[in-house]
Amino acid sequence: MPGINEVLVSRNIYSETDFNGLYPLSVRELDRYHWTSLSLAKKAAGFLVPDGRVKVLDIGSGAGKFCLAAACYYPDALYYGVEQRRWLRDHAEAARIRLGLENVRFIHGNFTQLDLRNFDSFYFYNSFYENLSGINKIDDSIEYSVELYNYYSRYLFRQLRQKPRGTRLCTLCSSEDEVPPDYHVVGTDMDDLLKFWIKV
Ligand SMILES: C[S@@+](CC[C@H](N)C(=O)[O-])C[C@H]1O[C@@H](n2cnc3c(N)ncnc32)[C@H](O)[C@@H]1O
Repeated sequence: MPGINEVLVSRNIYSETDFNGLYPLSVRELDRYHWTSLSLAKKAAGFLVPDGRVKVLDIGSGAGKFCLAAACYYPDALYYGVEQRRWLRDHAEAARIRLGLENVRFIHGNFTQLDLRNFDSFYFYNSFYENLSGINKIDDSIEYSVELYNYYSRYLFRQLRQKPRGTRLCTLCSSEDEVPPDYHVVGTDMDDLLKFWIKV
């Protein structure tokens, strides 16, 4: 775990394994391929929260690990996660309650239903990738297709293009199809898998 954190320690969480103990087995089993680790969440949030008051959106928030960890490490910002699978959103919300975090909100729905103008910074862990063949799936509760991958990537591209200069985006394992050309990489980590972008 990336250093001692007051909120986590107060809940007897001293390791990634302890944190994953907030979730049932069905969620923990997906951790390796689908959820952001605490150390990466801390790095991403450190970039996405240049000053305390920003609103950060996790596009496809899964079980909420990014938002929850970020809210522990950078508590002055507001974190929103939007997730299409209700069961994951509900586990994220249960974990939020157990951590006692008031600066996180989990929304059930498709990110295309949100107005991205309401948020300042964005986190994106390759959420649309499941639509491509040969990729590990979370479950079989939704339809997958290349068409959906393209639709979502283009939709997000257009939304990000409309954001003002200075907008911050952090991508993890992204193919970058959703990143408009006026977002420039200002830093990377994890052998370039984690990328920090600013719109110029
Ligand atoms: C790789 S997981 C990342 C979860 C979380 N952001 C994290 O870092 O721990 C991607 C998540 O995005 C969700 N997702 C994919 N497409 C979505 C969409 N169009 N709207 C909302 N959620 C979506 C999936 O259901 C999945 O839970």
